[in-house]
Amino acid sequence: MTDRVVGGAAVDRALPPFAILASGRGSNLAALCSHDDLRGACVGAIVSSEGAAAAQRAAAAGIPVATVARGGHASRADFDASLASQLRDWGAEWVVLAGFMHILGDGFLAAFSRRVVNIHPSLLPAFPGLHPHRQALAAGVSESGCTVHLVVPGAVDGGPIVAQSAVPVLAGDDEQSLAARVLAAEHDLYPRTLRTLLSTGG
Ligand code: GRF
Repeated sequence: MTDRVVGGAAVDRALPPFAILASGRGSNLAALCSHDDLRGACVGAIVSSEGAAAAQRAAAAGIPVATVARGGHASRADFDASLASQLRDWGAEWVVLAGFMHILGDGFLAAFSRRVVNIHPSLLPAFPGLHPHRQALAAGVSESGCTVHLVVPGAVDGGPIVAQSAVPVLAGDDEQSLAARVLAAEHDLYPRTLRTLLSTGG
């Protein structure tokens, strides 16, 4: 975002530092980091298992990677504390969930109040939770899509909606074909929406 001019030259105001939390293949992580301004503000990626493809994608983007596995922690509170400690070490001000398969505790969410963002592959409030594409096909809807929302205590996939992108459900779609169409929309929506959130403070 270009917001001021010094000595005749446009100066970009840096976006606030954020970290990405991911558990799986990391395609949203890669999409976010393919934008120079977002890549520049991304201080690290936490993956919840060493084998997660997201770790390789983060490394390929030149982003520091830490593994914080739920299994290595006696309680969810301990897990949350390890996550928060790593985020503090990196100076992350925002937390960007990209396929992170763990529920964050209320204490963690309070510490990053209204600065935890998630993307879910349905048009929330429709089809929260697991298997949203299967749910959409079973419901017979004519369109689905994805939602970027804030993560707040007590509501999985239920926080304030920031932005949505719709795609058609086509005759003959199965979970895989619908997921692929929605994923392409995610890769477009998440970077745009995150940039707006970060540059406006949410
Ligand atoms: C995406 O569909 C995202 O909406 C959901 O988990 C999936 C993660 O995919 N929360 P990827 O790891 O970013 O490829």
